[in-house]
Amino acid sequence: MTRVFSGIKPTGHLTLGNYLGALRQWVTVDQHRADALFCVVDLHALTVDHDPARVRRLSRQAATLLLAAGADPELCTVFVQSHVDEHARLSYLLECVATDGEMRRMVQYKEKAARERDRGGSVRLSLLTYPVLMAADILAHRADEVPVGDDQTQHVELTRDLAERFNQRYGHTFTVPRATRPEVAARVMNLQDPTSKMGKSDDSGPGIVYLLDEPDVVRKKIMRAVTDSGRDVVYDPEERPGVANLLEILAACTGGDPAALGEEYGSYGALKKDVAEAVVAELRPVWDRHRELCADPGYVERVLRDGAAKARALARPTVDAAYRAIGLLPPAVEAVEAVSEAEAGVG
Ligand code: TYM
Repeated sequence: MTRVFSGIKPTGHLTLGNYLGALRQWVTVDQHRADALFCVVDLHALTVDHDPARVRRLSRQAATLLLAAGADPELCTVFVQSHVDEHARLSYLLECVATDGEMRRMVQYKEKAARERDRGGSVRLSLLTYPVLMAADILAHRADEVPVGDDQTQHVELTRDLAERFNQRYGHTFTVPRATRPEVAARVMNLQDPTSKMGKSDDSGPGIVYLLDEPDVVRKKIMRAVTDSGRDVVYDPEERPGVANLLEILAACTGGDPAALGEEYGSYGALKKDVAEAVVAELRPVWDRHRELCADPGYVERVLRDGAAKARALARPTVDAAYRAIGLLPPAVEAVEAVSEAEAGVG
């Protein structure tokens, strides 16, 4: 069965971009057709200046929202990255396979490091090595597919390179994964600046629809979205990024095609109104379920505990195999177990 792995980073409140670009694909498609693991990647949230209490709060909130969006623990595994040591354990080995040049070429590193320096802050080393940890997340679970929005494809490409290099040097150990993306809305843009991505760590609230915004706030943000200088509604991401963004959001929520939808509208106002209602209708079940789950925090805790146990059991053999392949001496007890398992004909 195809194995799917993806993750979400608790660095801010989840956005409509996270939902349409990733979460929705996970819960409507991936968990039904694949052996799927979805992870709140909390270690990644430590790569930039952070408040420990906020990271904890956002991690719980991201897990709750993932379940509210429809992740079903009967169908998939939901867990928190730091609960499964294998991710960090494998990351170090992959650092010994990656090069610093590769890391410095990562677009997200360049952008985030520049932003951090502009603020007068310092850049954490973990921001540079972050894509290696992401590769470890994926490779530890032998994922075949990684459903992500556009902004993560470069990281998945790097993961492929590292897997191939490791396999070539040390023997076949890892599955080489590939990125998958939703047909529309793989890059939802900021409503106030449609040339930049709607990002959860950005500061500009009015251009970002957060999943937990109130319905009227969602409507207001969409009605105030920046459109383009023309008047007619056409789908042209290059020349009309504002309108194209709205059409993509509408297409994602209603199942249509952005270009064909554009032909149905004679004014920006009518388009915005329909986009606002489509988004509210799409998010309403998520809000309802989120409210229920918040009233039962014990359930979320149990899902995460069981998910971590399953994820640990899945990742352990692969990460152990990587340790052996790269030349590390197995601990004695493991060696004894390995010998007795081999004698018993296990594996
Ligand atoms: P993160 O937390 O930034 O985003 C989670 C997912 O949401 C997608 N996404 C978007 N899609 C469309 N439009 C947008 N505006 C938008 N903003 C975000 C992202 O592409 C992503 O799929 N490095 C990852 C987390 C990660 C991961 C992994 C993902 C860590 N390890 C292993 C997959 C596999 C990140 O920062 O995602």
